[in-house]
Amino acid sequence: MMSMTRTACDLGAPFDLAFLHAARSPADMIYRQELSLLAQRNHGLKLALISGTAPAAEAWAGFTGRLSLPMLQLIAPDFTERRIFCCGPAPFMEGVRAMLGEAGYDMAEYYEESFDFGAETAGNFEGEPEAAPEVSGQTFRVSFAKSGKVVECSPGMTVLSAAREAGLRPLSSCQRGICGTCKTRLVSGEVEMNHGGGIRKREIDQGKILACCSHPLSDIELEL
Ligand code: FES
Repeated sequence: MMSMTRTACDLGAPFDLAFLHAARSPADMIYRQELSLLAQRNHGLKLALISGTAPAAEAWAGFTGRLSLPMLQLIAPDFTERRIFCCGPAPFMEGVRAMLGEAGYDMAEYYEESFDFGAETAGNFEGEPEAAPEVSGQTFRVSFAKSGKVVECSPGMTVLSAAREAGLRPLSSCQRGICGTCKTRLVSGEVEMNHGGGIRKREIDQGKILACCSHPLSDIELEL
């Protein structure tokens, strides 16, 4: 989504793009600053930010709640005449498909990011994460700072699986270290992370990890 948006802005040719960005909270909105700046500078870009909850920390001028048909109609009243590109966790995209179907949208004009790596493509794309590290039967304790939960992470289990085992429902999508949806902060401990480009060095230096492709190398604590 960002590549296409940046390209549209860079080319300088007239364009008409409505960018809807839905996240749990404004703090979870990746590219928020860049998108706002692009929208200020490009008349063809209309930006709608949708926060799941009303943020307490700032005066919120965007939409609040879950993306719904009335919200979409308000943001882009002509959406049935537009081509739609959708990217997000699978349940989100399912919801969007259902909503558009109900609205009678021509689904031939609908495209979505796919993280379904079938047998045909397996092992064939650039940046494929390496296999899980050998951890020789070691089990580590994974604690979750916000929820206070603790689970044992058995050998070969990812941090994401451990979080699910703890009853948490962290966001995830590709589960291959590519999309960055499962990014979280490692509060303490060490992990081995074999990602496929879904995290930047700067973020790793800040203590962030991708839960779907990280394996504990010690007892760890996560922000979740
Ligand atoms: S779910 Fe895509 S990077 Fe983890």
